Amino acid sequence: MNLSRRMLLHAGLMSGAALAIAPRVFAEETMPDWHVGYQTAPAAGFGPSPMRLVSGKAPAGLTGTLYRNGPAHFKHGDAYATHWFDGDGMMQRINITDGKAVHTGRYIDTQKRRLEMAADKFLAPGFGTIGDPSYPVGSSDDVNPGNISALMSGGELLALWEAGSAYRLDPVTLETKGLKSWRPDLKGMPFLAHPKRDPDGRVWNLAIAGRRIGIYNINPDGTTKDFGMVDIGASHYIHDWTMTDRKVVILCQPWIQTKNMPPFIDGFVWKPEEGMKYLIADKDDLKKTRWAQGPARAFYHTGAAWEESDGTIRLDAAFYPEPVLGSGGGAAEIRGKFAGEHVSSKLTMVVIPPLKNGVGGDAKMVETNIAGDFPQVDPRRNGLSRKLTAMVTGSVENQPGGSALALQDWSSGKAQIYDFGSKYMVEEHLFIPKPGGTSEKDSWLIGTAINTRAQRSEVWAFDVANIADGPVAVWQADYAWPLGFHGTWAKA
Ligand SMILES: [Fe+2]
Repeated sequence: MNLSRRMLLHAGLMSGAALAIAPRVFAEETMPDWHVGYQTAPAAGFGPSPMRLVSGKAPAGLTGTLYRNGPAHFKHGDAYATHWFDGDGMMQRINITDGKAVHTGRYIDTQKRRLEMAADKFLAPGFGTIGDPSYPVGSSDDVNPGNISALMSGGELLALWEAGSAYRLDPVTLETKGLKSWRPDLKGMPFLAHPKRDPDGRVWNLAIAGRRIGIYNINPDGTTKDFGMVDIGASHYIHDWTMTDRKVVILCQPWIQTKNMPPFIDGFVWKPEEGMKYLIADKDDLKKTRWAQGPARAFYHTGAAWEESDGTIRLDAAFYPEPVLGSGGGAAEIRGKFAGEHVSSKLTMVVIPPLKNGVGGDAKMVETNIAGDFPQVDPRRNGLSRKLTAMVTGSVENQPGGSALALQDWSSGKAQIYDFGSKYMVEEHLFIPKPGGTSEKDSWLIGTAINTRAQRSEVWAFDVANIADGPVAVWQADYAWPLGFHGTWAKA
């Protein structure tokens, strides 16, 4: 991050703080229509409410449940949250049965939320929040908003954050059942928001706690097979990672923690001179590791990786030239102001050749012109060679977020784009394999978008064989729920 951008972000945060405490002399300004994505959701949540099919025809065979998680509470009294990532988590559930979609949304019932709702104040420190010194912090779960992602494991729905435990939820009612412990000795161990599932159902994930990284190996039935550790040498900011069928690949971006005090992200310094370091560890023996070095990039999300027969590893990710959404991230948008900059990321393929006689093997990059984030792949090909990556892209002037979907075909180097138009904010879309199909194109892409003109949330379904022609079905709710981050699909 250069100095001017850092100053801009800090200035934005400071003026936001000033706004929050300024006396209300004037009537509240009219909010832009996109602000609906950053409004606090009702305390009681939403639904269950039927959604209306407003376009196309529900595809036969598309039966299951889309779960999505994201921050949903941004205001106590006149005070706004100081970072988008610190809002209380709300799980959205969209069940599709017999072509009918039904939406339910419920807050994750956390200690942070209970104490802050009782006080009607923001109290807990967080990713970008200093917090109130009186707030009791005994462990990271005391501040855990459970607001990033969702995982189905062993019949449980889990709400995931990145620096604390997962929360167990009832997959139908969304009632919070408590914190997830993967093994008695792993109680309270962080469980990252980006677990990866092998095609056989085995789940891998990281526990980030400084330079020592824990690696979970979870059986398809949800029991814990193993938990090992690797040392990455420094406390890099790690939100996501990737894997092949045989290797764990940890991308160590040069956004490095130099102090540990709230707000969390202000303890990280961008050190581009260090480049991006890739730790590659054998899934079968985590002691077998190697490093590769590549150009400096910042990132939040990978697509997936695979290993070729000669040992070359390929992985794709949304890479930024410098960190985004650091200090003050989303603070302006929560107040109905657009911070003014669209993402400068590029969907990028990283190629790591094998070592030759123990040397070389450093990472090379193949960049596309697709700016955006939330890359997704066919879950049948996770860790295996594949052609396709879907991603949110597009932008609208003076409006945050994406407005289109891209489907990159790495075999041709070409992308299909579908533009939702200027009255949409488009969210992550997941590959849903069609029953009986085997190729990546035998899939639907399912995701959510906010129709800002109608002020309603929608669920869109595309046929991966041809997304440029538009959706095969769109369901619309009678209301909008807040923008979220990530989700998962549970087939019926
Ligand atoms: Fe994420």
